[in-house]
Amino acid sequence: MFPAMGTKDEPVAAVRGGSLDGTAGSATADPFLSGAWEPVHDELDVDDLPVTGRIPDGLAGTYVRNGPNPALAPAGRYHLFDGDGMLHAVRIEEGRARYRNRWVASAGLAAERRAGRALFGGLAEYRMPDPEVVAEVGPLKNTANTHVVRHAGRVFALLEAAPPTEVDLDLNTLGEYDFDGALVGPMTAHPKIDPVTGEMVLFGYNPFPPYLRVHVADAAGRLVRSVEVDLPAPVMMHDFAVSSRHVVLFDLPAVFDLPAMLRGDPGIRWEPGNGCRIGVLERADLGAPVRWFEMEPFWMFHVLNAYDDGDAVVVEGCRTDRLNTAFGGDEPVRARPPVLHRWRVDLAAGTVTDEQIDDRPGDFPRVNDDLAGADTRYGYVARANRRADDEVVFDGFVKYDLHAGTAAVHDYGPGAVAGEVAFAPDPAGRSEDSGWLLGYVYDRAEARSDLVVVDAATMAEVARVHLPRRVPLGFHGNWFAAS
Ligand SMILES: [Fe+2]
Repeated sequence: MFPAMGTKDEPVAAVRGGSLDGTAGSATADPFLSGAWEPVHDELDVDDLPVTGRIPDGLAGTYVRNGPNPALAPAGRYHLFDGDGMLHAVRIEEGRARYRNRWVASAGLAAERRAGRALFGGLAEYRMPDPEVVAEVGPLKNTANTHVVRHAGRVFALLEAAPPTEVDLDLNTLGEYDFDGALVGPMTAHPKIDPVTGEMVLFGYNPFPPYLRVHVADAAGRLVRSVEVDLPAPVMMHDFAVSSRHVVLFDLPAVFDLPAMLRGDPGIRWEPGNGCRIGVLERADLGAPVRWFEMEPFWMFHVLNAYDDGDAVVVEGCRTDRLNTAFGGDEPVRARPPVLHRWRVDLAAGTVTDEQIDDRPGDFPRVNDDLAGADTRYGYVARANRRADDEVVFDGFVKYDLHAGTAAVHDYGPGAVAGEVAFAPDPAGRSEDSGWLLGYVYDRAEARSDLVVVDAATMAEVARVHLPRRVPLGFHGNWFAAS
């Protein structure tokens, strides 16, 4: 969901103006409830937005980005991952742009609104809600705040601790979805859709047995395969990788301590002693035992892509040395900024290599999803930059040419704060980078936001859609082409 920032020498908690570790770490205003993260409190529909530049002819559809936006004052210590999901969409039709935002209308939020107060604790300070709330909603609020994906005609807002929430591209909430009862347990916020087969591969992790399940939905959206995977301990697993032939799992030592969580203490601990393993499954034989490869401990939130290369499966992602203490702990945060790495798992030789691709900090890696699972040449990674005022922010993105070993940077300019970019392919395009990168960019000086459209081939800004008000920073989004 969100990367760990900071260095060995300078804990994130000391970074001013809104660290990116997920907890406030400040005695003053909570940086995740103020500034660029400050929630908005209304739902707008605004047509005919002003545009600087020109919206490309091939860009027709809806960009939707999800993120945390607490509707009521938090009941306890707020964690960035706890906020109610809010979807911010810009629909582009015939060169005109319309903005709309809506909360994900979860059952938990509805109960809280009826009560007039927050009822659920969060990651930093979990509290079991009152029994009648648990009976109605369950022990957790499914905020669905992390990502939004479309598969087989359905659009899902996702939170990795819960089932998907179906929404539509008008941002109406249709309710939780369990694949006609076939999905047992939660669903990751980072499912992978195979552009060749149309399948969606997903997983769900649990703090209680079975700790991990891997599922496959076919191109028609039916959940057709589910397997349980044994793990030594329950771990948080934010992302995974899928190539055309393999599923790659990351059993990293962010270990759940459910009793501690139920006491209101940090429920996730960094425990290198639990071991660190990369696991590989054959998609054609998901029921076969996972092949595990032991690694030195590391942490990764996000995968860029994966592909098969002969007997090897290659995964690229943003790696750091450890999970920070973003889950309520008092010890200093020590995570290094994530940088792009490449793991090559040679299934014939039984070896793994780990290669650092770049030393520029960044996260939120994306590719042209029309080529997901293949050997993509280009990757787009939000750049984490330490500004002159010493604050670390995402203020641009890097386009990697992974074949040539080169990179180009798009900088949003002074005062800009941004996040992930989503790739919108040009329907008339013929090369992998024919298309545009879309992301909301917040101008702190003006306290306003734009949807910025960058040509992926040239890395030049081609259009800037001026939004009617500030859009808070968020997590993940996607471009949904009009069909
Ligand atoms: Fe994520």
